[in-house]
Amino acid sequence: MKKLLCGIIAGVCAVSAFSVAAENEIKLPTPNLKNSVTLKTALEKRKTSRTFSNKALSELDLSNLLWAAYGQNRPNGKRTVPVARGIYAIEMYVALSDGVYKHELGDNVLKKVTAQDMRAESDSRKMGAKAPVVLVMVADKDAFDGKGSHYIAMEAGAIMQNIYLYCAGYNLNTVVCGSFKPQVWAKALKLPANKYVILTQVVGCPR
Ligand SMILES: Cc1cc2nc3c(=O)[nH]c(=O)nc-3n(C[C@H](O)[C@H](O)[C@H](O)COP(=O)(O)O)c2cc1C
Repeated sequence: MKKLLCGIIAGVCAVSAFSVAAENEIKLPTPNLKNSVTLKTALEKRKTSRTFSNKALSELDLSNLLWAAYGQNRPNGKRTVPVARGIYAIEMYVALSDGVYKHELGDNVLKKVTAQDMRAESDSRKMGAKAPVVLVMVADKDAFDGKGSHYIAMEAGAIMQNIYLYCAGYNLNTVVCGSFKPQVWAKALKLPANKYVILTQVVGCPR
């Protein structure tokens, strides 16, 4: 009887753990970039914009944006940015109104890491507060045995430009930001000592 009761309790716990995990996940659709503008047009239109409407991006927009930023573009797993020594040192997080999510590239799933609305922490002017999405690039100090901060900065720069070009091509506004407080993000995202936020980038529809 005791065994049966334990089994039932374990079963209930397993089910509730699963549903909590599922509740805190957003399964993104497969990226599908349609009606692409030419590279020439995207380059001509690339610019920083600091005003945003609060209109939400669709899950497909978000999936496309993350793919353009740092997604896999070849069967060998390599991505839309070049990286030193083939080492990918950055992870993408997405700050939405209901919390911050880590992007799991393999499954194209967003997993919630905090329910805090962190969008206003995008930068010193709090530009993200009025936008639907703040992309957050989290870097791994140890990726090149602690000797690759220049490589990591270049990788972040490539991601930043991909986001700029995607936004230029799909009529979205964006601003990349370096003026955030790294400790505030590290605490909210519960980052281990070797991880830090290297850039944030606010994205939204024009106002
Ligand atoms: C590494 C980096 C950090 C930046 N940080 C901020 C920032 O914190 N706040 C801001 O308003 N713009 C920031 N910017 C955007 C620049 O101000 C902008 O790119 C520059 O004025 C050139 O304008 P453009 O992007 O329209 O060509 C940053 C740009 C870079 C590359």
